[in-house]
Amino acid sequence: MNQKDDILEKSKKELPQEVLSFIASTKKEAHPESQLIAVLQKTQQHFGYLTSAQLDAIAQVMQIPTAKVTGVATFYHLFRLKSIGKFVISVCTGTACHVRGADNVSKKLKDELGIDFGETTNDGLFTLDATRCLGMCALAPVIKIGEDVYSQVTPEQIPAILKKYFEKK
Ligand code: FES
Repeated sequence: MNQKDDILEKSKKELPQEVLSFIASTKKEAHPESQLIAVLQKTQQHFGYLTSAQLDAIAQVMQIPTAKVTGVATFYHLFRLKSIGKFVISVCTGTACHVRGADNVSKKLKDELGIDFGETTNDGLFTLDATRCLGMCALAPVIKIGEDVYSQVTPEQIPAILKKYFEKK
């Protein structure tokens, strides 16, 4: 096996089979590189975030310069380049939630957890994120923790909500 094949084989080991199959399917298209964002999304869906080793592997397998893959991953906010906590708290900052007090809910979450948006608590339990409209505007303000949705949330409810997840630890 020559060095190039060796690098390609190592790169493939960094990526899940579904991503490799998807990349293989894009090779039939006229511009496979146009699927880079979809490839990054699928990889992130699998791992929760993207490491530099995965970005490099995507570059090798898709035959796109690593700088371009890294550039796209860092440009779009939807890609996460740091590890995430066990529970991701998404606070809706859409208009309806904003009008109905999402800022106060965010502030309480930040105070309780001691982190800002985009950060993870030191114990690795929570990651705090701001998100766009979750499609439940009539029930604003809305937050999501993992797959659980909380509506008409008030800052006063936050400690009790968080407690449930501390108990699941
Ligand atoms: S704005 Fe928050 S759910 Fe729509």
